[in-house]
Amino acid sequence: MSPDEFLQQCDILEAQALAAFAAAEAACDSKQLEAARIEFLGARSGRIKQLQKALGAVPATANPAAGKRFNELKRKVEAGLDGAAERIAMRSRQQAEAQRQRAFDPTVPGTALRLGRLHPITQTIEELKDIMGRLGFAVAEGPEVEDEWHNFEALNIPPEHPARDPLDNFYLATAARCATEIPNGGAPSLNPTEAPPRLLRSQTSTVQIRVMEQMRPPVRVISCGRVYRPDTPDDTHFPMFHQIEGLMVDRDVTMGHLKSTLRLLARMAFAPDVEIRFRPSFFPFTEPSVEVDMTWESGWIEMGGAGMVDPNVLRAVGYDPEVYSGFAFGLGIERICARRHGVTDIRQFFRNDVRFLHQF
Ligand code: DAH
Repeated sequence: MSPDEFLQQCDILEAQALAAFAAAEAACDSKQLEAARIEFLGARSGRIKQLQKALGAVPATANPAAGKRFNELKRKVEAGLDGAAERIAMRSRQQAEAQRQRAFDPTVPGTALRLGRLHPITQTIEELKDIMGRLGFAVAEGPEVEDEWHNFEALNIPPEHPARDPLDNFYLATAARCATEIPNGGAPSLNPTEAPPRLLRSQTSTVQIRVMEQMRPPVRVISCGRVYRPDTPDDTHFPMFHQIEGLMVDRDVTMGHLKSTLRLLARMAFAPDVEIRFRPSFFPFTEPSVEVDMTWESGWIEMGGAGMVDPNVLRAVGYDPEVYSGFAFGLGIERICARRHGVTDIRQFFRNDVRFLHQF
């Protein structure tokens, strides 16, 4: 092959290769580009390889110029391939992204997220705290695991009182008592000194004692929380339920204060025309004691218990009953909540069924 012919072949090959790459690029077709690469740059039978063989046939005198041109050809074709490959890859990425964005249809309705909310009992507690707060009652807390002093003794419930029957309360098993109650049970290393019995509180009246032990009159507090009794569940009973306890102690507190406070509470919690009435009753920690009823749908329904704090209770916490008097009340929160929402089975409050809970 003459040198001129060789140089001409180089020009032709360069133009054809670059044209083939440009065509593949225009089609954004990486397979087409790969085919062009094999055609021109294929290691064995690519057209540039073929031309390299022809280089051997160029007369030796013209060889440097022909060799230089061949190297240039190879470099340009390789650079052309790389550039085309890079641009095809970039455009493919852009097209994929555009496709992804087209696939997102903002007009399709989304999955509605259901917002969580407070449990109806918690909502009721919050409202009761709010109502009583406006009447000047602060919120007090007490533990759910209690000793007998706070749950019974200080509340004027003596040891022989039926309310203290272990079958009517959730006493905690202590190590020493486990050892005696479980036949052949218990490790021999158990501490023989019996720990003082403790129980899940059966009433929030415990908090009355805790508050009065902590402060001097005037006292005006409520306490809301869980209480526990081994009752068989039915539509009005559950072994765990909630109470709101109220306590006011000062000089000259009378039953009139008790009645007007409960009337205001009932009216704010239920309806502005609600009436309440007292029926004589008995609780160890109040004297006199009353059962509180309120009007509801042309009749009377029970709200809870109340009374004037028994002098023995005042003495138990170091208050002088000659100087101070007080009232107390205890109401069931499930009962209040159920009545307000027309719930007829209080077990529903504790099933955690969102179809029920979502109504509130
Ligand atoms: N502790 C009583 C109970 O659980 C309710 C109660 C009655 C609370 C009278 C009081 C009260 O503070 O004065 O049945």
